[in-house]
Amino acid sequence: MRTDVEYLEFLWPMRHYLITCGDIEGKSNIIAVSFCMPVSKEPPLIACAIGRGAYSCTVIERTNEFIVNVPSQSLKKQIYYCGFHSGYDVDKFKETGLTPQPARKVKAPIIAECVAWMECTVRQEIETGSKNLFVGEVIEAYADDALVKGERKVEYAHGNFPRKIYATRFEEA
Ligand SMILES: Cc1cc2nc3c(=O)[nH]c(=O)nc-3n(C[C@H](O)[C@H](O)[C@H](O)COP(=O)(O)O)c2cc1C
Repeated sequence: MRTDVEYLEFLWPMRHYLITCGDIEGKSNIIAVSFCMPVSKEPPLIACAIGRGAYSCTVIERTNEFIVNVPSQSLKKQIYYCGFHSGYDVDKFKETGLTPQPARKVKAPIIAECVAWMECTVRQEIETGSKNLFVGEVIEAYADDALVKGERKVEYAHGNFPRKIYATRFEEA
């Protein structure tokens, strides 16, 4: 016997990421994203699916840049805050206490508390159902020294997509 399931159920768990966008000198924003993966090695490309209703979608369309910040499990509370609140309503750096720091090449800030960072410029934007898929070329990629040298180990943030978000933000959108 087999039972029909919601197709996403069996793709989990996925890693959680914090994507920053905007301008460190002006307004910048953080969105929690799990639909994020590498799609090419040469050139190095990352694809992230971002809901069209999200403030980040508008910002990335305008600036053509974003940063994939890799959080450890210790930032789970902040990840959920960024995943349940919109930059349309709140300043997520202020509310989470996460620290914005200048990136190397793009105007958006990196999140200092994360362990690795990938600065991207948008190569392609593709409409995919309720989301837009941003394909970004990685122009800078760097990580915490101790992590690279193997002197520090982190547990990366991962888990399920909260059902509340499914129901309230996407399925009804
Ligand atoms: C763990 C987690 C993962 C999420 N993954 C995604 C995702 O991959 N794509 C997406 O569009 N939204 C995702 N969300 C929901 C957004 O983070 C949420 O809609 C957010 O409020 C949008 O923020 P913004 O309006 O400031 O851009 C996720 C939320 C959580 C908590």
